[in-house]
Amino acid sequence: MRAPKPFDPESCRSQFPILTEPPGGLPLHYLDNAATAQLPAAVLTAVRRHETMSRANVARGVHRLAEAATAAYEDARSAVAGYLGVTDADEIVFTGGTTASINLVAYSFGETLGPGDEVLVSELEHHSNLVPWQLLATRRGVALKVLPVTEEGRLDLDRLPSLVSKRTKLLALTHCSNVTGAITDIGPIVAAAKSVGARVLIDGAQRAPHGPLDLPALGIDFYALSGHKLYAPNGVGVLWGRRELLSKMPPFMGGGGMIAQVDLETGTSFADIPRRFEAGTPPIAQAVGLGAAVRWAQALDWAGIAQHEARLTGRILDGLGAIKGARVIGPTGLQGRLGVVSFTLDGVHPHDLCQWLDRKGVALRGGHHCAQPLAKRFGIAGTSRASLAPYNNDADIDALLAGLEDARKRFA
Ligand SMILES: Cc1ncc(COP(=O)(O)O)c(C=O)c1O
Repeated sequence: MRAPKPFDPESCRSQFPILTEPPGGLPLHYLDNAATAQLPAAVLTAVRRHETMSRANVARGVHRLAEAATAAYEDARSAVAGYLGVTDADEIVFTGGTTASINLVAYSFGETLGPGDEVLVSELEHHSNLVPWQLLATRRGVALKVLPVTEEGRLDLDRLPSLVSKRTKLLALTHCSNVTGAITDIGPIVAAAKSVGARVLIDGAQRAPHGPLDLPALGIDFYALSGHKLYAPNGVGVLWGRRELLSKMPPFMGGGGMIAQVDLETGTSFADIPRRFEAGTPPIAQAVGLGAAVRWAQALDWAGIAQHEARLTGRILDGLGAIKGARVIGPTGLQGRLGVVSFTLDGVHPHDLCQWLDRKGVALRGGHHCAQPLAKRFGIAGTSRASLAPYNNDADIDALLAGLEDARKRFA
C-alpha cells in the first residue's frame, strides 16, 4: 500500500462540508465526535452515488440494480475487513451499531451460558456494554462480575486475577472509555481470559474511529463498532467475530435473508455467516457509506493524526488545569488516552455549560454519557465532554477555552 500523505489538519477539515459551510452561517466548533462524527465529502458522494445509481435490495434480485447493490454491499464488507485487519470478510457482520452488535452476542453466544457461569464487565462501560449483560443475567441466571476503575478513570487490571476464574465465560470490556478517554491495555485481559478458557468481547465504539486495527492480532474473539462515530452514516455498525465462534452461534433474529431453507414440516435451516446474523433488509446505503468511510480513513496518516490530536488534547487539559473549579474526570496526562476529555466545573451544571458554549458555536456533550455507574463511582451527576476528530483545529480549542473562562465568570 502507498504511504499516506503527511497529515494536514486544514486539508482534512476542508473535506467536511458541514465544517467549511456550517449550517446557518454560524460558527461551528464541533467537539462532540465521541457521540457522532461528521461525514467527509467522499462518504456523502459514495452514498449519493449508490442511492442514485444502484439502489435496490441485496442478495435476492437478479436484475442489474440488485446485482450492483449486492456487489456494493459486499465490497463495503471487504473494505471494513481491510480496516480491521481481518482476512476472512465473512467474519464481518453488518448490524445497526455497537449496541446491536453487543446485543447479538449477548443473545446468541449468551444462549450457551447458564447458572454457574460468569460474565466480567467493568464499572466504566457504556450502558450498551452493561445492560445487555444484565438482561442475560436475568434471562439465564448468569452472574455478572464487575471490574473496578482506578482514580485515573482506567480499568483496574490488577484486579483481574481476583475476578476471573473457571466460571468466567466472557470478558466484555471497552477499548476506550467514552467518558475518560482512557485506552484499555488489551494484552492482560486476553491473557486472563485464555488462562481460564474464556472469550473476550471488546467494545470498539470509541477506538475504531482513531485508525485501522489488527483485530485477530489482539487475540480477542468479538469486536463491536458503530459507523456513525467512524465518519459514516447512522444506522450501520459491525460485529467482528472469529469464524469458529460465529459459525457455531445460533441466530439472534429470524427473517428473510438469514435462512438456507424454510419448511413448515421439517423446520428451518440457516445461512452461513455472515448472513445468518443479518435478518431482513440490511442498512445497504449505510454500509456502502461505511465502506467509503473506512477506505477514506485508511488512506490517512494516523501517526500524524495521533500527534495532532495529542497536542490538542494537551491544550484542553492544560487549559482546564488553569480554570478555577475545573476537574478532569480521567487521566490528566497524555499517556494511554485518546482525545476524549470529561470535566466538571464547580457550580455549573453540565447541561447549562453545554448550552452556554453552544451559543458560542462550541458543540460539547453534557450528562452521564450513558455510563451512570462511572458517574456514581466518581460521585458526580455527569460531566461536560469535549471529544476530538482529525478535523479539529486550534481555533476549536481556543473557542472552547475562551467559552469556559466566560462561563466560569458568568455562573460563578
Ligand atoms: C463506548 C461506547 N460503547 C457503545 C456505544 C453505543 O453506540 P451506538 O449508540 O452507536 O450503538 C457508545 C456510544 O456513544 C460508546 O461510546
